[in-house]
Amino acid sequence: MAKSSSIYVCQQCGYQAPSFLGKCPECNSWNSLVEQVSQITTSKSQANISFNPDVIINLSDIDKINYKRLSTGLGEFDRVLGGGIVAGSVVLVTGDPGIGKSTLLSQLALNVKESLYVAGEESAKQIKIRIDRIKLNANLPIFNETDVDIICRALEKVKPGLAIIDSIQTLETQDLNAAPGSVSQVRESAHRLQRLAKKLHIPIFIVGHITKEGSIAGPKVLEHLVDVVLSLEGDSTSDFRVLRASKNRFGPTDEVGIFEMAEAGMKEVLNPSQLLLEQRVQAPGSAVVTTLNGARPLLMEIQALVTKSFLAIPRRVSTGIDNNRLQLLIAVLTKRLNLNLYNQDIFVNVAGGFKVSDAATDLGVCVAVASSLLGVDVVPNSIFIGEVGLLGELRTVRQFDKRLKEAQNLGFSNIISYKSAKSLKDAVRAGLVSKKLQV
Ligand code: TYD
Ligand code: MG
Repeated sequence: MAKSSSIYVCQQCGYQAPSFLGKCPECNSWNSLVEQVSQITTSKSQANISFNPDVIINLSDIDKINYKRLSTGLGEFDRVLGGGIVAGSVVLVTGDPGIGKSTLLSQLALNVKESLYVAGEESAKQIKIRIDRIKLNANLPIFNETDVDIICRALEKVKPGLAIIDSIQTLETQDLNAAPGSVSQVRESAHRLQRLAKKLHIPIFIVGHITKEGSIAGPKVLEHLVDVVLSLEGDSTSDFRVLRASKNRFGPTDEVGIFEMAEAGMKEVLNPSQLLLEQRVQAPGSAVVTTLNGARPLLMEIQALVTKSFLAIPRRVSTGIDNNRLQLLIAVLTKRLNLNLYNQDIFVNVAGGFKVSDAATDLGVCVAVASSLLGVDVVPNSIFIGEVGLLGELRTVRQFDKRLKEAQNLGFSNIISYKSAKSLKDAVRAGLVSKKLQV
């Protein structure tokens, strides 16, 4: 196709140029010109345009919108999608390299009938090695191609039940001069796939890599185009993976799916709280808290280790919780409970490699730190729910009942929260085994 069919458009002011310019002559912004396919204006005059009023639809004429949903074969995945895959929808799956996007989508392709796996990154042989790990000798049609127009043609011909594109950064159209992975190629390729999904009524899953400069070559530019944006998150040191929907035109965005990267692909984790607490031992420095992941309560263990520091500025190291939050809680413990933490190194960790940003865990962190400093166990079967304020007061948390139910389901009978204790001091006293503490 003719290479001259593209133009460069400033993303700030809309200025158009026939070739790339580093600085926009109109608005003076740097690096804002992006290659786009130029719109060939047809010679249709206004008079030739016909309009049929029937194309306007009254919502009341539609009985009931009933999306036909297709199961992914993985309950956790279905839950995040809002009950399964909607025909004709385009789903973007993002995540760090190596997190398990290809693995999860290969499993999806194996579970859904007549799926087609379009691989731009890996050869069919490499994919076979992965598929063999998931299910030995399983069959899956693989299409090794990076030209989006050829892919679209193939999808039109094959009409698969589900198409997986791995990944959008490898696709390109000959209509643009830019390299694969550039904003123009990524956006144009996604646009063509999206139009095709609606036309053929087939679901398309697109893998998108997260780059540090997400707004440039990453999937950020795609988010407006697609129907659903899913992100697969997790820590490289842990096997847990959380699948989260940040946009969903056909379902909720507060659901999460929890998986474990196992020897044979991703395994659904049906009772994550239980799994997270399985290896817990009763020792000073361990407290159990509830966190909300989307709408789903999860119990997690907070571990703290407080040891005498030999440094001029003692260390405060946190893994899984915000370090500034930890510093703040240490200051509150020092001031309101008179704990001698000024000369102690403090390490706090969320067991299982999870990242927590829920203020309801504040109380648990404080109890774990106090417990480790004093060398006193936490009362068995205790759960801590509450945000800690700077005045040493306990504050309410959202969805208390949901958290409580999850804790009770797992046998935590001693609930210590802002409902049972007046202040942080009271709560720490109630949470530690020895009541004769100097706190
Ligand atoms: P992959 O799906 O290739 O990641 P992405 O597509 O997001 O870049 O997953 C890569 C990692 O998953 C790799 O380190 C190996 C691991 N893995 C397992 O632990 N078990 C398995 O069954 C498979 C297929 C992969
Ligand atoms: Mg991959």
